[in-house]
Amino acid sequence: MNTLRIMVTGGAGFLGSHLCDALLAEGHAVTAVDNLLTGRRGNIEHLRNDSRFEFLEHDICQPFDYGRVDYVFNFASPASPVDYSEHGIETLQVGSLGTFNALELARKYEARFLMASTSECYGDPEEHPQKETYWGHVNPIGPRSVYDEAKRFSEAATVAYRRYHQLDAKLARIFNTYGPRMQINDGRVVPNFMKQALRGEDLTVYGDGKQTRSFCYVTDEIDGLLRLAWSKEPGPVNIGNPREFTILECAQKVLAVTGSKSQIRYEPLPADDPKQRRPDITKARTLLGWEPRVDLESGLKMSLDYFRGAVAALATTRA
Ligand SMILES: NC(=O)c1ccc[n+]([C@@H]2O[C@H](COP(=O)([O-])OP(=O)(O)OC[C@H]3O[C@@H](n4cnc5c(N)ncnc54)[C@H](O)[C@@H]3O)[C@@H](O)[C@H]2O)c1
Repeated sequence: MNTLRIMVTGGAGFLGSHLCDALLAEGHAVTAVDNLLTGRRGNIEHLRNDSRFEFLEHDICQPFDYGRVDYVFNFASPASPVDYSEHGIETLQVGSLGTFNALELARKYEARFLMASTSECYGDPEEHPQKETYWGHVNPIGPRSVYDEAKRFSEAATVAYRRYHQLDAKLARIFNTYGPRMQINDGRVVPNFMKQALRGEDLTVYGDGKQTRSFCYVTDEIDGLLRLAWSKEPGPVNIGNPREFTILECAQKVLAVTGSKSQIRYEPLPADDPKQRRPDITKARTLLGWEPRVDLESGLKMSLDYFRGAVAALATTRA
């Protein structure tokens, strides 16, 4: 493969930083653009001395052009419910203005484009598992709408640039992904349970814990995203792990992996919390030859050292 100049918006975030690593490993030159709203310099610190990598602190809601690019991966956006609730307006802005600016950049240089969309486009789904053909069941004015509708708008904008400007633009619908570099306090299931288990606190389960989620380990997710990126397939393509767990089962796995004696505490279910979520990955399997390889227990084990470090760092900053 030729060496490309690739821009990753949101490159200092959890997924964006792993994507930068993978693209550099493939031999490309990578520019990460990030305003550090929910990302951290620490996620890309290890790339500081790599001459093929550069980091630009910039809010993509403001137009940007740092020279020719061959590919734009648009990953900038708060992603966890805690983050997008706190930054609701910024989330709507980055999904609309930010996505437009990223698309315009790709159009200017006739670059390829991949949009990091989400399973949240399906909302609280009435079809299970979710296929890419499903249009979703989203509350446009509920507490999650700042994220869900921003992403649905991003999808519409991406498809419009494809349709009206012949941009080689793709849509990936990412399902719950976990692994090292997730923020310990971002409220998502895995970091939450890991933090509570490692501190010996009760694990908080909302509702009866029978709602289901699928969990994809980060290396699998990045592999799927790159296969889509280099394919001719425009998407949308679901990239996620189809193995479904109840939240309670996930809590039990975290307790087993950490060896924690924590108890489970039940709390009321938040508004619009999806009851079940599982990707149908037939499209990714058949068109990209992709499927996840890391099971939940192995992924949790591979993440354990990172979460131990993050919990220890939290204790130091609080001391
Ligand atoms: N992690 C998941 O399970 C998951 C699931 C579905 C979709 N996604 C999507 O993948 C992308 C990355 O998610 P993540 O989990 O890595 O989240 P993250 O919060 O760790 O990363 C997002 C990054 O975007 C940056 N950002 C936000 N607004 C910006 C702006 N206006 N300008 C420049 N940078 C900005 C943040 O600072 C952060 O570094 C997001 O678009 C998210 O919607 C993630």
